Amino acid sequence: MLFRSFLLSLLFCSSLYSVEYQAKDYNYLLGQVSGIDDQLLTMHFTLYKGYVANTNKLLKELGEMEETGKMRTPEFAGLKRMFGWEFDGMRLHEYYFENLGKSALSEESQLYKEISDQFGSMDRFKEELTATGLIRGIGWVILYRDPKSRKLIIDWVNEHDAGHLAGATPLLVMDVFEHAYITQYGLDRAGYIQAFIDNINWERVQKRSVE
Ligand SMILES: [Fe+2]
Repeated sequence: MLFRSFLLSLLFCSSLYSVEYQAKDYNYLLGQVSGIDDQLLTMHFTLYKGYVANTNKLLKELGEMEETGKMRTPEFAGLKRMFGWEFDGMRLHEYYFENLGKSALSEESQLYKEISDQFGSMDRFKEELTATGLIRGIGWVILYRDPKSRKLIIDWVNEHDAGHLAGATPLLVMDVFEHAYITQYGLDRAGYIQAFIDNINWERVQKRSVE
C-alpha cells in the first residue's frame, strides 16, 4: 500500500508545481509613453523579470519540498505565504505594462457609458483613480469589474497581495510603488499619476471588460 502511494505520488504529485512562467517583452513601449521615460521603463521591466524568476523559484522549491515529504513544515508554510506576493507582483506588472500605450476610449463605447453612469462622469472617474493613487503607502490601484453585479470598482491593493476583490476582473491596473515613478518624478506622485492616465491603453482595457 505504501509502495503504491509512493508510486502515485511520483506519477501525480510531482507535477503540481511544474509550471514555469516566461517573462514577457515590453520593449515595444519604449519611446511610446509620453511622460514616463525609457530609463524608468527599462528599470521597471528588469524589476518585473525578478518577480517572474522568483515565482518560478518558489514553485521549484515547493515542488521539491512536496516530493521529499516536507509539506507540513514551517519552511513550506513560509514559501506558500510568499507565493501570492511574488505571483501577484508578476501578474500585476503584466496588467500594468499592457494597459500602457495611449489609445482613446470612444464616447460611444459601452465602457465609456458605464464609467460615466457609475462614476458620474469620466472626469469624476479620473478624480477617484487619482485620489486612490495618492493613498499613502505602496501598492496598486485597480479598476475592477465585479462580474456578479457588473459594477465597476476602484480598489487599493496593498503591496501586491492584500485587498484584491474576490472573483473580480482587473480592467485597469496602475502601479504606485515608488519605483514606478520616483527616479523621474521624485515625490510628485500626482505628476506620475497624470502621466499614467494620459497614456492609458483604453483599447486593452475595453477588451478586458468584455472577456
Ligand atoms: Fe512596479
